[in-house]
Amino acid sequence: MASLFIDCIVKIIFNKFIKNILARPSIILAVFWSSYFNLLLMRKLNGVQLSTMQLKVICATIKRKIPCKLLVFGLGNDSFFWTNLNRKGVTVFLEDNKEWFKNVMKKSENIKAYLVSYNTQRKDWEIMLEDKSLLEMTLPNDVEKEAWDVILVDAPAGWNDESPGRMKSIFLSSKLIRISGDIFVHDCDREVEEIYCDKFLQKENLRMEIKAPIGFLRHYHIMNRFV
Ligand SMILES: C[S@@+](CC[C@H](N)C(=O)[O-])C[C@H]1O[C@@H](n2cnc3c(N)ncnc32)[C@H](O)[C@@H]1O
Repeated sequence: MASLFIDCIVKIIFNKFIKNILARPSIILAVFWSSYFNLLLMRKLNGVQLSTMQLKVICATIKRKIPCKLLVFGLGNDSFFWTNLNRKGVTVFLEDNKEWFKNVMKKSENIKAYLVSYNTQRKDWEIMLEDKSLLEMTLPNDVEKEAWDVILVDAPAGWNDESPGRMKSIFLSSKLIRISGDIFVHDCDREVEEIYCDKFLQKENLRMEIKAPIGFLRHYHIMNRFV
């Protein structure tokens, strides 16, 4: 019994040690050679939530456009990867969770991110859908004035009625994208994300949907803008 316990502890420590050592190099490898295997390795070692196939599709679009203007709603364990993939371009993150902001920023250097406040709750999504003035918000000047080539919406949290929900981030992405830009929205298997995407990003712009156990990703290539 005692040896089984020690065995278990050694395995956990070894796994953590390996993860810590290989996490960063796996990101650099995936930036330069974005094969399925390298993205899978990067994802596993860094705890990224987007699936490997979803990362691959976003990555291929960004690589076709680099250096580009990339805007990401939500900081995560993938932020260092996106920043380095588009290292000669401009990559900006918007994050609303103060603790998570501090957590990610202290681990990753050279990331440009702003703390924002949505002041929304997911349960208000129906009222907001009918009144665009409720979807507007003040953004940092250098985010607002840009026309973005690629936008990734993976925030704010939208997993229950009290969480902010992605009403504003989806609406704003439709305003901030340049014509012929690409928008990716994660968690489109959820009602609010699906309805807001259908309204503001429009079905005729939808290129594909990549299903995964932890959230469907939609890819829109914007030819017609709603707002
Ligand atoms: C849904 S996560 C996805 C991040 C990244 N794109 C990924 O695939 O790993 C992004 C949002 O979740 C929220 N969040 C809070 N705690 C978190 C945690 N422990 N891990 C990841 N995201 C967290 C953050 O506010 C953040 O904006």
